[in-house]
Amino acid sequence: MDKPFALELDGLVVRYGKGCPLCTDSAQALQRNRCPRCGSIWAVRDISLRVREGEILGVVGESGSGKSTLMRALYLDSQPTAGGYYLGRYHDGKTNIYSISLQQRKYIRSHLLGMVYQNPHLGLRMFFSAGANVAEKLIAAGNRNVRSMMNRTGTLLEHIEVPLGRLKEPPVNFSGGMQQRLQIAKAVANNPPVLLLDEVTTGLDLSVQARVLDLVKRIQREFGVTMIVVSHDLAVVRMLAGRTVVMLDGRIIEQGITDQILEDPRHIYTQTLVNSLL
Ligand SMILES: Nc1ncnc2c1ncn2[C@@H]1O[C@H](COP(=O)(O)OP(=O)(O)OP(=O)(O)O)[C@@H](O)[C@H]1O
Ligand SMILES: [Mg+2]
Ligand SMILES: [Zn+2]
Repeated sequence: MDKPFALELDGLVVRYGKGCPLCTDSAQALQRNRCPRCGSIWAVRDISLRVREGEILGVVGESGSGKSTLMRALYLDSQPTAGGYYLGRYHDGKTNIYSISLQQRKYIRSHLLGMVYQNPHLGLRMFFSAGANVAEKLIAAGNRNVRSMMNRTGTLLEHIEVPLGRLKEPPVNFSGGMQQRLQIAKAVANNPPVLLLDEVTTGLDLSVQARVLDLVKRIQREFGVTMIVVSHDLAVVRMLAGRTVVMLDGRIIEQGITDQILEDPRHIYTQTLVNSLL
């Protein structure tokens, strides 16, 4: 039997702008993802996904195809235009998370989801200490015991290979690689069953990239965490994700087993993407 699903998304739509009769009636009217009449951007259009427990799903697509918008919607950063979102660990996957209260969403963000943002400024308080960044996440999940939080923070920093001596330093002083690893520490601080990683290795040099990838693989192996991994870098997706979806102009245009997609892409756009990036 199939493993139970960890995450399901049903018809997600995220539109920036008010929309108008032209673009709300007909997707054909759009130029790429933009309405020529009202200028609204349809960043994500009718995306449905199902991710099994312990699975890593890859998301690829050119710049502007809607990957980060999708990830921010999954982390409940804003209310989408339309769609249903279900987590296996929340009411047995029977409640649409986009329809619940803000307070319940906060609970989900601190207990059931972890996020690494493409832009570390969105994921970290740059002028707070590294330790405070992690502690904030622990407190959000209801921790109050300072000693146990300090222990947990120490363990996490050790895992991500940030020297304990830098605990009191603000992430603004850190290198890009350290900032990404600190985001990972925050994301996994409360052992969430689902991790969302948006370009977690992009912009890092190769040796740092390899260490971050090792860390991600270790987390998946040891804790069976379900992940969605966005990357420009098809090699990263190939290394991590069993299944991959390809996005273009806010839609999924191809999906399947990662190796198959990379070796034998069906869609002309995927062929171009594979040829240009591998
Ligand atoms: N806050 C916003 N307001 C208006 N448009 C936005 C906003 N954020 C993103 N967009 C637009 O939505 C579309 C999708 O952007 P998004 O950042 O999700 O793409 P992406 O696939 O993550 O790109 P990249 O690979 O460059 O990170 C783009 O056309 C972008 O210009
Ligand atoms: Mg992005
Ligand atoms: Zn319009």
